[in-house]
Amino acid sequence: MSETVLLVGGGGREHAIARALADSAALYACAGNRNPGIARLAEGFETLDTTNPTAVTAYAREVDATLAVVGPEAALEAGVADSLDDAGVYAFGPREEEARIETDKAFQRRFMERHDIPGCPDFATFEDVEAACEYIDEYGGDLAVKPAGLTGGKGVRVIGDQVAAEEAKAYIRESDYDRIVLEERLVGEEFTVQAFVAGGDLRVTPAVQDHKRAYEGDEGPNTGGMGSYSDGKLELPFMDRADYQEAVDVLEATVDALDGYKGVLYGQFMLTADGVKVVEFNARFGDPEAMNTLPVLNTDFLDVLTAARDGESLPKLSFDPKATVCKYAVPDGYPTDPESGARVSVDEATVERVNERYRSGAGSGVAADGGFRSETDDARELPDGGTPAEALLFYASVDEREDGIYTTTSRAFAVVGIADTIAVAEEVAEDALAAAGDGVRIRHDIGTPDLVQKRIDHVARLRGE
Ligand code: AMP
Ligand code: GLY
Repeated sequence: MSETVLLVGGGGREHAIARALADSAALYACAGNRNPGIARLAEGFETLDTTNPTAVTAYAREVDATLAVVGPEAALEAGVADSLDDAGVYAFGPREEEARIETDKAFQRRFMERHDIPGCPDFATFEDVEAACEYIDEYGGDLAVKPAGLTGGKGVRVIGDQVAAEEAKAYIRESDYDRIVLEERLVGEEFTVQAFVAGGDLRVTPAVQDHKRAYEGDEGPNTGGMGSYSDGKLELPFMDRADYQEAVDVLEATVDALDGYKGVLYGQFMLTADGVKVVEFNARFGDPEAMNTLPVLNTDFLDVLTAARDGESLPKLSFDPKATVCKYAVPDGYPTDPESGARVSVDEATVERVNERYRSGAGSGVAADGGFRSETDDARELPDGGTPAEALLFYASVDEREDGIYTTTSRAFAVVGIADTIAVAEEVAEDALAAAGDGVRIRHDIGTPDLVQKRIDHVARLRGE
């Protein structure tokens, strides 16, 4: 293999990136926590602080990396891509300055305003807490209250949804955020579109819907993301192709305005009664969204990376027309009061047993090898004409001990079901999660026909249909 790729980061997102690259490149990885799934795919895994550019770059040099992929936003903010680039290791990930599109929400909104990028809500930025409180009092509607810096997806409070105005003011008075963005509360359905960007080229991937709230029925505090789904096409069931295209237009306008951006540009959108609005941009793959996207990408991800590095036009992307449902297992009490130390009882073997059932149940009694199967008792029946389904396991934050794998205080692992429809993908994911024991929590509603229908009805109501 002629390319040696260094993967920076050790979460579920990075496990999905590792899986997308392991067959095409010599892979090395570094992260704060050892990810057993990535470690198995990689030729080397170094535990180091990924916000330390010197340490990451030294490891890249040691393994003779010819390319790097930077997963987490904190590493981008710390200038890891700058340091790798400067050392001659092309980093697929923006430099610190360009990553401000994610790492500084005040900059991001002003950038949208300055460049007339469509979909920007009304906003105001503050460096003074009392001035922000006054604005909340005087604004004639609900606001989203956002710390300007990175908070792991947990810093936003939405007035009228999660909190009352008084609570929002108390929240910013008690916190030590130095800069705050207040913006118009957007009402609608959220979706993500991720794009590969380099040399002014943009290649988009199918829309994904994440579930940020901790509990079923979209209750509870915001998390890093509890799970997500995508359909076997570019758009999601509650939107049409024109909505998807509106989001792509926003991404294109953003890439045009951002000079020299490279890496993944992630748009978080709200489909509202007034069209598509921007909730935020991220400067990297989403976690969990990468786990929906990369498994159905037929184009070799390495070809995207080498084209980006070599200044060639990015390859056109092709996707398997499959739906995906990703569900995270998180420690009990997550995100407010997580309890670590539970044994993880889902592993490659339990997932493989589920996959064997689906493989052998595909079609009407025809086994994966094309032969006829007589015993169908334990086989899953896929809808007529259905093609095989499968489940994938991605590790996130776990503690690998001699006697097994244990939870930490962050999201532990995710399972992704991949099938012809969202409904079957959801069943596949649940079957693979059936082995999950005590000590972890899962949002079982993600990707279910009921919840998907609620999203469809919500948009129909907003549009007055
Ligand atoms: P962020 O950290 O910007 O991703 O925000 C976290 C979550 O807060 C988003 O996924 C939305 O659910 C919510 N949010 C952020 N901005 C707004 C907004 N302007 N209106 C309504 N909800 C928002
Ligand atoms: N899924 C949300 C994020 O990656 O920020």
